Amino acid sequence: MQHAIQNNIHFTDYHPAPADFFAEVMEGLQQSPKAIAPKFFYDAQGSRLFDAICELAEYYPTRTEMQILSDHAEEIAGIIGEKSFVLEPGSGSSTKVRLLLNDLKPHTYMPMDISRQHLLDAAQTLAHEYPWLDIHAACADFTTPLMLPVQPQTLNKVAFFPGSSIGNFEPAAAQAFLTHLGETVGVGGGLLIGVDLKKDPELLHAAYNDSEGVTAEFNLNLLARINRELNADFDLDSFVHRAFYNRTLGRIEMHLVSRRQQQVAVAEETFQFHRGETIHTECSYKYSIREFQSLAAAAGFRAVKVWTDGEQLFSVHYLIYQG
Ligand code: TRP
Repeated sequence: MQHAIQNNIHFTDYHPAPADFFAEVMEGLQQSPKAIAPKFFYDAQGSRLFDAICELAEYYPTRTEMQILSDHAEEIAGIIGEKSFVLEPGSGSSTKVRLLLNDLKPHTYMPMDISRQHLLDAAQTLAHEYPWLDIHAACADFTTPLMLPVQPQTLNKVAFFPGSSIGNFEPAAAQAFLTHLGETVGVGGGLLIGVDLKKDPELLHAAYNDSEGVTAEFNLNLLARINRELNADFDLDSFVHRAFYNRTLGRIEMHLVSRRQQQVAVAEETFQFHRGETIHTECSYKYSIREFQSLAAAAGFRAVKVWTDGEQLFSVHYLIYQG
């Protein structure tokens, strides 16, 4: 379905059917160890909680990446060039792209997000603020391949993938996803991507275990969402948030831990949990600059430029797809 809402905004719905959520949750809870994909965090409430995480003192990635983008917006615009088509998978509130718009002046911006109403609201606000910008919002699960509406050949296609969301894929899946982005922008197309760097585990630990408990609430909202949408009876007081840095694998792992032996009904099924058993809800891999560049090279990208902050907390890379 495609329709125009305002003059400069178009909306396409690829929203995964609720059946996908049900099927994936059932499958994930039958696995051992139990796991549910992080994309399901983002219902309306999850999208709001995620915005709150990004403002936490302990969560350094958002403000660091935003500082890097605003410090180098002019240079980034110069490298990308004119008449760009900017595609942003997982655009959320479209906050970061604003740092680039005045310098980059893209022809078209395509925000893409799984959280439908949040995406629509963000796209509408953006359309008001930037009346000259052509916006094609797409509600989609970006982890599944999708056909983009055909774009004029003359546009200079760039994927914008900030927030170190690439770290939320397993490395092999990250490589496959980068190749998919490369094929989407085509040979000669660009990728502007934010990647969180390896660092002192204590800083990492604090970023995913904030003192206000927002990250815990975000993690637990997944169970609340399953209760709301899938007729389940998770007792939210019987699960706790746990996040830690796994040094060997270079990743933060996020889990929901069962505080006791219990059983939980989801629709017609019953799932057993022993005390201490976890549902793995997310990984966040951290990469050195070289590690990321070699992952991107394996996916067909040539590194053009990388920017970091003074403390080397976070990196923003610009790469070109070579096929
Ligand atoms: N891409 C972000 C990251 O890995 C996503 C994220 C940040 C996140 N904080 C979170 C996901 C807390 C789940 C819970 O840092």
